Amino acid sequence: MIEIEHVSKYYGDFPAVTDISFSVGKGEILGFLGPNGAGKSTTMKMLTGFLPPSSGTVRIAGSDIVSDSLEARRHIGYLPETVPLYTDMEVTDYLKFMGRIRGMSSNYVARRINEVIDIVNLGVYRNTHIGKLSKGFRQRVGIAQAILHEPDVLVLDEPTIGIDPIQVVETRQLIKSLGGEHTLVISTHILPEVSMICERVIIINEGQIVAEDTPEMLATRLRGVDRIELDVKGPSKEIADAISAVEGVTDVDHHYVQNGGHTTYAVSLLPDLELRSRLASAVVTGGWELLRLQSVGMTLEEIFLQVTTEEQIPGVIGAVEEEAQQG
Ligand SMILES: Nc1ncnc2c1ncn2[C@@H]1O[C@H](COP(=O)(O)OP(=O)(O)OP(=O)(O)O)[C@@H](O)[C@H]1O
Ligand SMILES: [Mg+2]
Repeated sequence: MIEIEHVSKYYGDFPAVTDISFSVGKGEILGFLGPNGAGKSTTMKMLTGFLPPSSGTVRIAGSDIVSDSLEARRHIGYLPETVPLYTDMEVTDYLKFMGRIRGMSSNYVARRINEVIDIVNLGVYRNTHIGKLSKGFRQRVGIAQAILHEPDVLVLDEPTIGIDPIQVVETRQLIKSLGGEHTLVISTHILPEVSMICERVIIINEGQIVAEDTPEMLATRLRGVDRIELDVKGPSKEIADAISAVEGVTDVDHHYVQNGGHTTYAVSLLPDLELRSRLASAVVTGGWELLRLQSVGMTLEEIFLQVTTEEQIPGVIGAVEEEAQQG
């Protein structure tokens, strides 16, 4: 549905986005995650035809966003970072206006206005001036205009920014529910949002893609370290030494849990080794009491920090780099 190939964007000499490629399949929900200034909004503007790429191609449902802009844009609904809302217009008038600029017939607009107001739950505010709406409800107006013309692709740039926690929950549910019918691309720097809404995540940093996977798989594939926690009763130092001696263990941290009367060991391991049974037998062989043994994934926060602060990421990115060096 969306194909981006070798796209770069320069603002003057400054490379905001360099050589990114990815595609999004029909009905997929893709999260675009990165710190401030990473190039998220720039990428979304290129996706939606608001900015031409300096080089590379963007195709939406087979149509080139530059050479076949009208056809490509017909498929797209876009919630920009700052929604250009006309604050002195009533919600329905604004939507009517947006429909007309998109060439929708007045009957079609009228029908769709009722539908989208229902979808985004704006019923009580349909005749309110947009300027009087709270931030969260303005964002809903923004989403309403994005889905008005029934696009099959929705591009939402930081859709929940500035919204209070209660409205955020509702807005996320709303976005997720749009996922069934639409191909969705959502940019955000809020990590839990990605795991809540998205099926796949691309992490972008300094204009380059540094990681791409499902939220769950990122945890296991990216860092090259798995972690296991053990609760054991017995002499901490000796037990830590025994655990460290197991092949594949790279690090052991431990702290005594006062009210449990045991020590918790956080063990870092080389990835893809099934070491649980070896760890268990190391403890049992030492004659200590094993109370718990559990794999713990990395949180998205940890992955995010890792891929945006480290240069060398083993696994996925290693492969990409090798390819680039060969070709
Ligand atoms: N119109 C512009 N002219 C010059 N530089 C720009 C322009 N727009 C963005 N940039 C720069 O390009 C880089 C990427 O900006 P972009 O807005 O795409 O980041 P972002 O990932 O959306 O960040 P944020 O999370 O803050 O919204 C930044 O360094 C920014 O300063
Ligand atoms: Mg942005």
